[in-house]
Amino acid sequence: MNLRNPFHLQVREDGILEGYDEHSIKKVKDMLVCYNLSEIERDALEVDSEQAMYEVYKKNVSNERGRLLQCTTIIYPGHINKHFFMTRGHRHVDTNCDEIYHGVSGEGILLLQRGDEFKYIYIKKGVSAYIPGDWAHRTVTTSLESPFIFYSIWPADSGYDYEYVKNNPFGKNVVLDEKNGFVIQ
Ligand code: PA5
Ligand code: MN
Repeated sequence: MNLRNPFHLQVREDGILEGYDEHSIKKVKDMLVCYNLSEIERDALEVDSEQAMYEVYKKNVSNERGRLLQCTTIIYPGHINKHFFMTRGHRHVDTNCDEIYHGVSGEGILLLQRGDEFKYIYIKKGVSAYIPGDWAHRTVTTSLESPFIFYSIWPADSGYDYEYVKNNPFGKNVVLDEKNGFVIQ
């Protein structure tokens, strides 16, 4: 067994994970496929397609069993045709691998789906959400003003199954509502 050394990172309020190894950005144009838009709606979009929808800062470790990955996600405020900005969403390839999301700043919704079961958890600063590995998960901002930022920890050998979500799309969306801010429908 490899001898490993302890280390620490700084989870910043602005969402940057100081000491990260990988940084990725998903722009509006990369995410349109997740929004089920008609061609007409796509052509009429008022959002800048080069705008960032979310960013991830990730710390890498080897993907052996027992290791833990960690990252921060920053989802920017905004919506597409009243459907709030969100992550692609995935399920873990190894459905025995669970995950924890911890709210750092801003507010949003964690959508969870397993077959025809649906649940959601409202996340804001200090809220820790536990995701069993057999639930597909996606996070969505509920704000038009400030970024929704959360920190995640999960087993390094979980794997990401994005195909699963393509074949089993989320049945619920978080939609802008003039009266209540947002509605899950
Ligand atoms: O591991 C996770 O579940 C998160 O860190 C997500 O990967 C992150 O929020 C980005 O979402 P997605 O991987 O669905 O694009
Ligand atoms: Mn995950």
